[in-house]
Amino acid sequence: MKVRVETTPQPTASYDVVIRAGVLAELADRVRSVAAAERYAVIAPGDVAALYGAGVIRDLRAVGLAAELLTFEPGEAQKTRAVWAELTDRLAALEFGRDSCIIACGGGVTGDLAGFVAATYMRGVPVVQVPTTLLAMIDASVGGKTGVDTSAGKNLVGAFHQPRLVLADPLLLKTLPDAELRAGLAEAVKHGVMLDRAYFDWIGERADELLARDAAALENLVAGSVAFKAAVVAADPFETGRRAVLNFGHTIGHALERQSGYALTHGIAVAMGMVVEVAAGQLLGVTEPGTLEQLVSVLRRCDLPDRPHVTSLDQVVAATRLDKKARNAAPRCALPREIGAAASDSAGRWTHDTPENVLAAALEATSAGARNV
Ligand SMILES: NC(=O)c1ccc[n+]([C@@H]2O[C@H](COP(=O)([O-])OP(=O)(O)OC[C@H]3O[C@@H](n4cnc5c(N)ncnc54)[C@H](O)[C@@H]3O)[C@@H](O)[C@H]2O)c1
Ligand SMILES: [Zn+2]
Repeated sequence: MKVRVETTPQPTASYDVVIRAGVLAELADRVRSVAAAERYAVIAPGDVAALYGAGVIRDLRAVGLAAELLTFEPGEAQKTRAVWAELTDRLAALEFGRDSCIIACGGGVTGDLAGFVAATYMRGVPVVQVPTTLLAMIDASVGGKTGVDTSAGKNLVGAFHQPRLVLADPLLLKTLPDAELRAGLAEAVKHGVMLDRAYFDWIGERADELLARDAAALENLVAGSVAFKAAVVAADPFETGRRAVLNFGHTIGHALERQSGYALTHGIAVAMGMVVEVAAGQLLGVTEPGTLEQLVSVLRRCDLPDRPHVTSLDQVVAATRLDKKARNAAPRCALPREIGAAASDSAGRWTHDTPENVLAAALEATSAGARNV
């Protein structure tokens, strides 16, 4: 399966996302043809490097490519300017020149961090994304957003830098911790809710196979989500309009993540965020009544939380104010009209004013009896 991402107004930035069980074995040949370079730096977190790093380096060298493995400690806490500085310093110390290529091999943290290294090193070198988490395969590796977190918030410093190629091999998901797999599923559910009812239903029907890491089911899931994301990104590469629909669940999700001190993983927080935002959408009259029930049913089948885990309503609402997407006083949420269709407002915008009192009511209504996750 192959999805072509066209990013106007930068036609040179079009690229393929190749999704197939076993495709990692083709990395060296594919990289050589789409991102020919003097030298390759494979950037991976330690845990992923231990599993796949040696194999990737061996494959690249086997076809005569000069490749080095650069590792960093895994985890969101490493997505910082300090680690960016360390990685760029190491590239410079190893005398990587302008004719280099970065291969980002890991989850979304790696894609964002190594992508930002590629966006900035020598004013920009090519990057190939090899996502190894479900979240990175269906979401983070496509679209060209790169960056790091700062103490003021997530992803506050970054750049758009489209990859030359994305290779998604569902076989790599065999080693992924269970919680990470479910976190990725949450983003796929998000695509179903905002873009395609049939896809949403399919996830509900195949949830058991997906959770059991059936390679064919995962291949279809990744291909479906990448196709949705590619279409949205192609129409809006710099996120000025419709791409905002991909932020469904994220206004509240980010707030919950921040409030938990990042103990909640991104995808789990997004699952909770979707529940709260759909409840808010129904209160606002933007989202059809009954949507929440359908969402909750699929989230349960995917073994995802069906309600937010909230310790302080006030703190969560306050945290939405820090979200960089809240451009004015009232937070704005991307909301579905119904399962399978995003809602636009009367001015044609894809986010909706969601007053804090509505968010608070939605949080309160959905968080009752929250189960631990
Ligand atoms: N750029 C974008 O468009 C975009 C979109 C969504 C999310 N993101 C970012 O993605 C990040 C979250 O990414 P994530 O959920 O992939 O987390 P992650 O990158 O931290 O990966 C989770 C953990 O699993 C490990 N791991 C990865 N692949 C593995 C494998 N195959 N086997 C065993 N262990 C493996 C990782 O090293 C890490 O320890 C956040 O920083 C978020 O902001 C970016
Ligand atoms: Zn997300």
